[in-house]
Amino acid sequence: MFPQNVIKIAKTLKNAGFDAYVVGGAVRDTVLCKLPHDYDIATNATPAQVKELFDRTIDTGIEHGTVTAMFGKEGYEITTYRCDGKYSDGRHPDSVSFVDTIEDDLSRRDFTMNAMAIDPVTEELVDPFGGETDLHMGVIRTVGNAEDRFKEDALRMMRAARFKAQFGFTIEHRTYDAMTDMHGLISGLSKERIHEELNKTLQGRFADIGIKAMELTGILREISPELSEMFYCGQETPWHYENVGSHSLSVLMNAKEKGGSLNVLWAALLHDMGKPEAKVIKEDGSCHFHNHAAHSGKLAYNLLRELKFSNAEIDRIVKLVEYHDTVYADIKDVRTFVAAHDKDFLDELYILQLADAMAHTPRYAEEAVAEKEAFRKDILTVIRDKTAIRIKDLKIDGSDLKELGYEEGIEIGLELEKLWKLCIEDPSLNDEKTLYDLAEKDLKDEERDER
Ligand code: CTP
Repeated sequence: MFPQNVIKIAKTLKNAGFDAYVVGGAVRDTVLCKLPHDYDIATNATPAQVKELFDRTIDTGIEHGTVTAMFGKEGYEITTYRCDGKYSDGRHPDSVSFVDTIEDDLSRRDFTMNAMAIDPVTEELVDPFGGETDLHMGVIRTVGNAEDRFKEDALRMMRAARFKAQFGFTIEHRTYDAMTDMHGLISGLSKERIHEELNKTLQGRFADIGIKAMELTGILREISPELSEMFYCGQETPWHYENVGSHSLSVLMNAKEKGGSLNVLWAALLHDMGKPEAKVIKEDGSCHFHNHAAHSGKLAYNLLRELKFSNAEIDRIVKLVEYHDTVYADIKDVRTFVAAHDKDFLDELYILQLADAMAHTPRYAEEAVAEKEAFRKDILTVIRDKTAIRIKDLKIDGSDLKELGYEEGIEIGLELEKLWKLCIEDPSLNDEKTLYDLAEKDLKDEERDER
C-alpha cells in the first residue's frame, strides 16, 4: 500500500528499536482511498538518532525535530514525536518539546482527521480521536478543545474552511463557534500563510462554501473588509439576482468548471470587489456600478500586494479584473486590443468573461454569454489572420522613414503611429511599398503645408 521507500524507512527505524508511523495528510488521503502527494513520518527516535540511521539526510527543521532522509531525488521528512508550543510568529512554534508516544504526538494536531497515524509495515491505524469516523462522516472537528487548538495556531481556523473547500465537509458546531469567537486572531498571522491557505481554498472543489464559511465566521473580514463587504452589497439590476459576494462565488465556480488557472480563480473572486464603493442607487430603486472594474482593479491591487503576491501575479490578476467587463464589437478595436495583449492573457480573460456571463440572471445570461463568445470569435479571427498589427510589426521602420527625409525623434514616431492606425483599419496596407508610398506622400503634404 505504501511506497517502497516509506516501508524501507519504517523498517530501518523499527529494526533499530524505534517506532515509525506515517502521519498527517498522507493518512487522511489513504483512509479516503486517494493517492497521497507526500509522506511524513513520525518516530520516537531523536533527530540525532535518525541521522545515524540514514546515509543521506538534510537538517530541514532540526530545531523542530525534523530531518529529511533522501532516497535519490526523493525526500521524506522524519519528525520526532513532539508537542508544539505557541506559534507567536504564526509560522513556527516558539518551542517544541519531544514526547514519548505517538498518541501524545497526535494530540497536538489540529483536526481529528489529521490526528491519525498508520504503521506502514503492519498497516495498523492509530486513531485515538475518532478521525476515521469523522472523515467518513464528513466532519471537521478539532482534537479536544477548539479554542485551545486555535490559540496554538490561528491558521487552523482558515485550515478548517480550506478542508471544507477541498472535501465539502461540515465543520462541527463547537469548532465553528470557536472560529466565530476567535476570528480576530487571524490578523496576527503572516500574510504569506494567509495567501497560501487562500490559494488552497480557491483550488478546492467546493471553494465557494469554503470562502462562505470564512465570511460567516468573520475570518474573511479580518483578511479583507472589502471582500467581506461584497456579501452585503445587493445588485438591484435586471442582470443580477445575487449580492456581489454570492455572485463572485458563482463566477469562481464557473471559472473552475471551465479549467481557469489560479490567477483566473483569484480574478473571479476579486472582479467585482469595487462594486460596494461604486454603487449608486437611482430614484426608481435600481442601481448602477459605474466604472466598477477600475475600482475593483485598484482594491485587488492593494489586497494582492498586502498578501505578498509576486509582481507578475499582481499584474496578471489586476489586468483580468480591470478588463473583465470589456468587449469590443468593432473589429478595428479588437485588432488594437489583441495587439496590446498576449495570447495567454486573452485565453484567461475569455474564461473569466464567460464565467461572469454565466452567473447573470437566467434571462440575461444567454445574451451575455453570446456577447462574450462573439468577442472571443473575433479575437481568434484576428489572431488567425495575423491582423493585430503592432508598430513593430509594420513592414517599414524608423530608419526607412529617416531615409525618406523624416526627422529622427517625434516626427518619425508620429508617422509610424499614423501608419499603424491605417493598418489597424485596413491590414492589407501593411506592405513595404504601400507604406513607403504613404509615408512619402505624407512628407510631401507636410512640406507643401509648411510653404
Ligand atoms: N498540522 C496542525 N496544525 C497546523 C498545520 C498542520 O496540527 N497548523 C498538522 C496536521 O496533523 C497536519 C500535519 O500537521 O495533517 C501536516 O500538515 P501539512 O503538511 O500542512 O499538511 P496538511 O495541511 O494536513 O495537508 P496538505 O498536505 O494537503 O496541505
